[in-house]
Amino acid sequence: MKTIIEPFRIKMVEPIKMTTPQEREQALQRAGMNLFLVPAEDVLIDLLTDSGTGAMSSEQWAGIMRGDESYAGAKSFYRFERCLHKITGFEHILPTHQGRASERILFGLVGGKGKVVPSNNHFDTTRANIEHSGAQAVDLVVDEGLDPRNRAPFKGNLDVAKLERFIEQVGPEQIPLVMITVTNNSGGGQPVSLQNIREVKDICRKYDKPLFLDACRFAENAYFIKLREKGQQNRSVTEIVREMFDLSDGATISAKKDGIVNIGGVLLLRNEELCRRARNLLILTEGFPTYGGLAGRDLEAMAQGFEEVLHEDYLAYRLRSTEYLGEKLLSMGIQIVEPPGGHAIYIDAKDFCPHIPPEQFPGQALACAFYRQGGIRSSEIGSVMFGKNATMELVRMAIPRRVYTQSHIDYVIEIIGEVHEKRQNLKGLRIVSGPAALRHFTAAFEEI
Ligand code: F0G
Repeated sequence: MKTIIEPFRIKMVEPIKMTTPQEREQALQRAGMNLFLVPAEDVLIDLLTDSGTGAMSSEQWAGIMRGDESYAGAKSFYRFERCLHKITGFEHILPTHQGRASERILFGLVGGKGKVVPSNNHFDTTRANIEHSGAQAVDLVVDEGLDPRNRAPFKGNLDVAKLERFIEQVGPEQIPLVMITVTNNSGGGQPVSLQNIREVKDICRKYDKPLFLDACRFAENAYFIKLREKGQQNRSVTEIVREMFDLSDGATISAKKDGIVNIGGVLLLRNEELCRRARNLLILTEGFPTYGGLAGRDLEAMAQGFEEVLHEDYLAYRLRSTEYLGEKLLSMGIQIVEPPGGHAIYIDAKDFCPHIPPEQFPGQALACAFYRQGGIRSSEIGSVMFGKNATMELVRMAIPRRVYTQSHIDYVIEIIGEVHEKRQNLKGLRIVSGPAALRHFTAAFEEI
């Protein structure tokens, strides 16, 4: 097979700063060993998130200049609406400023005390918005999804047997909707099969429940379906995407992922009455329904981004370049969540430094070590983020879209390898200060 190259050339560059080990040590100490508190300027390769960090295309920047900033009925809104309608088939399309704004509106309407919302795995902000409404968020991912070494093709699937049992147990009247996150970010960026979405939809029909997608990475998920699911190889990603949306009754989307923009979100709804109420909440907290908390130029960039993300050359490059990082690490004996996800590689920190117990935060210690060694920023997904509820100790290396080249990634692989060679010197951490909730953003640590 030919090398899969970056299907773009670079027309504008942003310098990144090389730092000395001493400078990095000082930055790390000033930040209390919390990488969220390190200034981005002191980071060489930033793999903290793939959200809002992608590079826009020349056509997206052209859209920025064309943006119609009228308060109501802007031309840019109609372009955005036409584009989202063409891709998803939905009639009711609300722009929001980002994914969690869509979640806040949706669960403000259908959540509330006594309600429970099942999903494969809820992302943190979705869970937080459900819980904020008084409802409960429940994860029902298939068992393979919990085992980092299992190489099943669709480890993001929602377990349909668990779902049906769960609905019978709590009573269908307590469940306002069923959700599926594509791809499953909290579960290692793993995809969900079309077959699974169809089966979940069948159960939703049986109990007369709407099915909602958290569709942040819908295009990456559709390309995994094309690559891995029997009978899907000859369909276009556009067709697969359309079937995913046709099976659903609504979707929350953060356009900061597969919309390839720096800010933006979408709420899709089929039910007219729900849409009317959502629109009222949108006006209350985001803005008039034809701009939803964004500028006209943002709507142009989003419309263009959602079109570009469906290009199969782009998706082949996107999934392959993430897989490249994962394969190299595996070949060096570094355990990751297998198989590689779409937007990120998740390193198993328990396996990397078995001498550091979970209560000394092996993921955080490892993320700090990568920064110290080579200025790479990643994020802990383990005991710092989830406390005692953590099931795995992971370090997520999320890849921004169209930003880094293969030599950047080769450098990342070298640095991880260097840290791996002297892993027995890694020290555990203790928290010296931090809030009770969402402590991963602000807690300070010291080495033990
Ligand atoms: N759903 C999923 C699956 C996500 O990954 C995110 C964001 C959101 C919803 C919320 O979207 O940030 O636009 O409000 N994930 C980012 C990440 C923050 O780093 O994984 P948002």
